[in-house]
Amino acid sequence: HNPETERLLQANELTAKLYHYLLKNTEYGKAAITYLRGRGMNDKAIDHFQIGYAPAGWNTLVQFLEKRSFSLPEMEKGGLISSRHEGGGYVDRFRDRIIFPIKSSSGKVIAFAGRTMGDGQPKYLNSPETRLFNKSRILYNMYDAKSSIRKKGQTILFEGYGDVISAWEHDILNGVAGMGTALTENQARMLKSLSDEVIICYDGDKAGQAAALKNLPILESAGLVVKIALLTDGLDPDEFIRKHGGDRFTHQIIEGAVSPIKFKLINLKKNHILLEEGGRIAYSREAIKLIAPLSSPTEREVYLRELSSEVDVDFETLKQECNLERQQIQ
Ligand code: UTP
Ligand code: MN
Ligand code: MN
Ligand code: MN
Ligand code: MN
Repeated sequence: HNPETERLLQANELTAKLYHYLLKNTEYGKAAITYLRGRGMNDKAIDHFQIGYAPAGWNTLVQFLEKRSFSLPEMEKGGLISSRHEGGGYVDRFRDRIIFPIKSSSGKVIAFAGRTMGDGQPKYLNSPETRLFNKSRILYNMYDAKSSIRKKGQTILFEGYGDVISAWEHDILNGVAGMGTALTENQARMLKSLSDEVIICYDGDKAGQAAALKNLPILESAGLVVKIALLTDGLDPDEFIRKHGGDRFTHQIIEGAVSPIKFKLINLKKNHILLEEGGRIAYSREAIKLIAPLSSPTEREVYLRELSSEVDVDFETLKQECNLERQQIQ
């Protein structure tokens, strides 16, 4: 490592410690602790994930770093502080936010995400790209999840930090999260190097389900076997676990995760009104397009039979249509 990288790593580590200390041991952190408890986060998780609090003042961290002789321009480039728009000088980047330190795959703190406790925007303020932090190459909790992922032969890919933490609190240790919902080839390759299977466990809202559909081919292209968890009622995994517990999450949501084709068929079905014949015909046509490329005759039959009862069309008829479609794509 070059010296500037070393200094930035050291500053990040100290900053994580500072924010964690402020959360746990000072008057400043009281409201933040109350907020976290209100969300159901326990002390063990707060310590394990080194959750912190960045106070509301303008220069808590600036002074802390200055006193330890860090170069402020260097710290600004490193994303820890911001330069003032006018009048020169520096201010803290994270103010009045819950802090989630983000670690590299080798376990070093390289960035932070700061969540507002109110409805301020953005909800999460993340570190900018720096010499340490390239968000397309990082997965939250990767370092700590590695051994569990290898042992289970499976990764659970979440949308958010809170989902990873909630799962961890219930002994589900193989969870990681992307930085937001856009997944990259690089992240997919990282996952493939640890295990062959990924369960996409995104939020049960429209955005989450759309992101699952979008990220699916990126994971499959990396050679991963992918399943998709179906969260209901618009809940995210964190909310589901708080509401129904870890056991139900494991048995219903994780073990009930479906194959990509099933997931696509479910999504397709949502877009059509099956009470109308036009809707049934359009749904059948598009469903057959998804089913026809499947190489296994058994798989094709299973989905065609299901489709047959959904749209009330004879199985043999659907099979004929499917075979026609297969001839066309060959
Ligand atoms: P969500 O909106 O689902 O947030 O975004 P969440 O994780 O459930 O957060 P809580 O429960 O409201 O605290 C999913 C992820 O997208 C990224 C974060 O990584 C977040 O965990 N995100 C979201 C941002 O980076 N910035 C934002 O403003 C919002
Ligand atoms: Mn979401
Ligand atoms: Mn969410
Ligand atoms: Mn959430
Ligand atoms: Mn619990």
